[in-house]
Amino acid sequence: QSALPEGYKLRALRPSDYDTGFLDCLRVLTTVGDITKEQFQDRYDWISRQDGGYFILVIEDTNSSPPRVVGTGALLVERKFIHNLASVGHIEDIAIAKDQQGKKLGLRMIQALDFIAQKTGCYKAILDCSEANEGFYVKCGFKRAGLEMAHYY
Ligand code: ACO
Repeated sequence: QSALPEGYKLRALRPSDYDTGFLDCLRVLTTVGDITKEQFQDRYDWISRQDGGYFILVIEDTNSSPPRVVGTGALLVERKFIHNLASVGHIEDIAIAKDQQGKKLGLRMIQALDFIAQKTGCYKAILDCSEANEGFYVKCGFKRAGLEMAHYY
């Protein structure tokens, strides 16, 4: 696994990331809403209780002061009955801050989530993306498979 640029660190999300730009980073991806610190902590605590089933990583730029979260991504490990109790990794909510795109941060994030998926015993990792992002995921080693269906409520 190759290195991040100088001063960039990849680590697990922390409660203090409420104040480091994590939510702004996610706003590159979609709407986030106005989440209070308490709501953030509650969701963080719920995720922490998922016992190896839910990982959220961030990339922090320590060159800026204070350090700022400039990338994020998540992995959900789904434990199945089929295929002899197999696990499948679901990669979700990949976002790199607009001014930080094109520095291979997205690639490093996917590589890190892929590594966790393999280490936790997943036989594959899957994700949904737009046609516009297909090229990025191909460069990350993914290939088109299946068709997404959605039922919005
Ligand atoms: N189409 C084709 N190729 C791409 C694209 C794209 N949309 N984006 C990046 N690439 C290429 C790069 O040129 C690079 O190629 P190279 O190795 O030949 O130089 C390679 O993919 C790796 O690119 P990175 O620099 O790692 O990409 P970046 O850090 O900019 O992250 C990302 C890509 C995550 C798509 C970023 O642009 C982003 O956050 N976009 C907005 C939010 C978003 O769409 N997130 C993904 C949603 S899907 C999901 O979450 C499962």
